[in-house]
Amino acid sequence: MAKIIISQLILCLFVILINVAPHSADETPPSLFILGDSTADVGTNTYIPESLVRADFPHNGIDFPNSRATGRFSNGFNSADFVAKFFGLKRSPPPFLFLLTLKPHHFQRHLLIGVNFASAGSGLLDVTGPKTMVVPLSQQINQFSTVKDNITALIGSEATETMLSKSLFFISIGSNDIFGYFATNTTIPKDQFISNLISTYSNHITNLYNLGARKFGIISVPPLGCCPSQRLIQKLINGADGCFQPENDFAISFYSALESLLTNLSSKLPGFKYSLGNGYKMTIDVIENPRASGFENVDSACCGTGLLNAQGPCNSTASLCSDRRKYLFWDLFHPTKKAAYLAAQTLYNGPPYYVSPINFAQLAEDY
Ligand SMILES: *[C@@H]1O[C@H](CO)[C@@H](O)[C@H](O)[C@H]1NC(C)=O
Ligand SMILES: *[C@@H]1O[C@H](CO)[C@@H](O)[C@H](O)[C@H]1NC(C)=O
Ligand SMILES: *[C@@H]1O[C@H](CO)[C@@H](O)[C@H](O)[C@H]1NC(C)=O
Ligand SMILES: *[C@@H]1O[C@H](CO)[C@@H](O)[C@H](O)[C@H]1NC(C)=O
Repeated sequence: MAKIIISQLILCLFVILINVAPHSADETPPSLFILGDSTADVGTNTYIPESLVRADFPHNGIDFPNSRATGRFSNGFNSADFVAKFFGLKRSPPPFLFLLTLKPHHFQRHLLIGVNFASAGSGLLDVTGPKTMVVPLSQQINQFSTVKDNITALIGSEATETMLSKSLFFISIGSNDIFGYFATNTTIPKDQFISNLISTYSNHITNLYNLGARKFGIISVPPLGCCPSQRLIQKLINGADGCFQPENDFAISFYSALESLLTNLSSKLPGFKYSLGNGYKMTIDVIENPRASGFENVDSACCGTGLLNAQGPCNSTASLCSDRRKYLFWDLFHPTKKAAYLAAQTLYNGPPYYVSPINFAQLAEDY
């Protein structure tokens, strides 16, 4: 049962091309607050003792420094880490739940760099993800609110407002809600479900805005139906190869609705700025033309078991592909380190075709 829950949850990928000039060394990185699901989780769930949605065991982390399994659903760094790297940090700021284990002065020392609240298996909706095992987005925002109190206690409220208005809020979420829709026999029509997700997203973003956030770097969901786990369902249930199209259609609709929401919010909320990455386009372009970015396999998991290496999770007894740089997918749901790097690179410095109306580097600039 646990295994089923886990494979229904967690998350997918993102990708792309383009040359990047990273943040130059003499610029101070903006503080980085990261919220979302497994695409951005850097170990949150390993601090939830009862959570089964975790990746703190090999072969996860095989390409991480010292081959450490940190809880990231990846062979190495994930997109949150690479976004942080492009802004001049060494990796993502640590998980909030880890910071809570530190002594107060160590806790405080971390706050000005930023905090990562992302939790694998979580969604926009509180009903997404097994309760007590993941931190839903609403709760991640509550955690941010206490962090704001802690920063205020440290530097005062005026400096805190200034700092938060310059900080980057990176959000990667939505896939688990859509997987959830398909995993249950809900009778809610597609359009209604998407608009429910978007109005929930609107509340979350507005709550963050009311807490002082101004710069939002958001990535929409990838073509979910192309994950090895969903290709496997397509194969076993529908007897066909390829991606599960209904989920991809949801991903496309979700993007359009999110784009419209962000346009609306930016005309409503003074000082609100955003950059929206099109996770669907970034990834589908790689799937349709893998060699352009050096991939040779875009349908199977690098680490797993059985058909498409997607019939079991990535763990220490799973089979491991020989060249991880040639795979788009690390496990049945998640991108490889290389795919995560390409996605972050596109978010940071990509063209409007993939990230609009501006990219993350432009979002971070003061203008
Ligand atoms: C952080 O803020 C919360 C909420 O105000 C408070 O309970 C907690 O003690 C603070 N932690 C530190 C280390 O200052
Ligand atoms: C959904 O409906 C199908 C067919 O009616 C059934 O086989 C399946 O068990 C149901 N799934 C859930 C999660 O209720
Ligand atoms: C954005 O605003 C337009 C015009 O008021 C409205 O028709 C549309 O439904 C809004 N979209 C979202 C996602 O809020
Ligand atoms: C790895 O997962 C498989 C299920 O695919 C399970 O049978 C096996 O016991 C797991 N191995 C370890 C070391 O947990």
